[in-house]
Amino acid sequence: MSATFEKLMNGADGGLALLQVLAENSFDSVLVTDASPKGKIIYANKSFKSLTGHDPSEIIGKTPRILQGPGTDAKVIARLAGALKSGGKFEGKAINYKKDGTPFIMYWRVLPIKVGRKIIAWVAIQRQGSTI
Ligand SMILES: Cc1cc2nc3c(=O)[nH]c(=O)nc-3n(C[C@H](O)[C@H](O)[C@H](O)COP(=O)(O)O)c2cc1C
Repeated sequence: MSATFEKLMNGADGGLALLQVLAENSFDSVLVTDASPKGKIIYANKSFKSLTGHDPSEIIGKTPRILQGPGTDAKVIARLAGALKSGGKFEGKAINYKKDGTPFIMYWRVLPIKVGRKIIAWVAIQRQGSTI
């Protein structure tokens, strides 16, 4: 990170404006949940809709479990649940399902957003994977 970039990020409105442009225009799906144990969705970008078929406005307040189904590997989800418990990071692939029920390979990362030591939200970066 350059000093100029850091100044922009830490400026009154600069960091927020930059973050908004990045999240709204990312080719990858971006999903944000609150920090509650269930992880309720508080934000999804347009690429989330392209990937899953779910309109962001319909899934606010739900959890990303809506993407899971019979083919979703429970071991991968247990690894993610472990990361959520310990405040760590996750990266993995699993079968998920679009709104219309079509299965696809989800390849995604989940990371905690921290202010000091407190986790205030979780963010996921998601895309279609080619192989499990
Ligand atoms: C930010 C975030 C993104 C998530 N994205 C996905 C996802 O894309 N696909 C998926 O199968 N689970 C995803 N999950 C996992 C589920 O929401 C849930 O946390 C997981 O299934 C563990 O909870 P459970 O043990 O109650 O199933 C995500 C969780 C978080 C916090």
